[in-house]
Amino acid sequence: MKRIKAIYPGSFDPPTNGHLDLIERGSKLFDELVVAILQNPEKDPLFSVTDRRRMLEAMTADFDNVSVDTFEGLTVDYALRVEATAILRGIRAISDYEYELQMALMNRKLQPGLETVFMMPAEKYSYVSSRLVREVAQLGGSIACLVPELVEHKLREKMDVAHKFESAEHLPDKTPPEGKSKSRKKKA
Ligand code: PNS
Repeated sequence: MKRIKAIYPGSFDPPTNGHLDLIERGSKLFDELVVAILQNPEKDPLFSVTDRRRMLEAMTADFDNVSVDTFEGLTVDYALRVEATAILRGIRAISDYEYELQMALMNRKLQPGLETVFMMPAEKYSYVSSRLVREVAQLGGSIACLVPELVEHKLREKMDVAHKFESAEHLPDKTPPEGKSKSRKKKA
């Protein structure tokens, strides 16, 4: 029987419960699923690829047929390299559709043998995106239930470090101004 291997490409900065929901659904549909993190030198991500990989590996540890990998360049080239025949992508709302359709058709043009399969995460995650999670966390809002606990901790750690850094930057400057510390010249 033909085994179907799929890749689930994305930025995952950070991975969310919506991603995890899709991974779980994908793991039931495909024989093998590779969560593929794009290494994009042009983007300035919040989390390093190594951090994202570790988070995703921990999140997917219970799924026997799911692995995590990183890639550079075209998604279709990576899919061919790992001998996958399908690309899994999530559609949360109609607003995702246009971009996803465009990507799927471009990928089909580049590699007609690869099929893109769209799946919908649970409705409760339909408004969850990595971008909003980053923004809410950065502004001190609660992201509980939107990301797995380990991701929440990692985000908090990042925010604490950023906060400390910012506070240090705003400390009053105790360095004496130029010349201030020099002993005053005695009047002639
Ligand atoms: O999680 P994201 O940011 O929505 O994922 C987008 C991703 C990584 C799937 C897309 O940007 C991508 O495939 N990039 C790799 C470069 C590529 O193949 N570009 C052509 C896509 S049609």
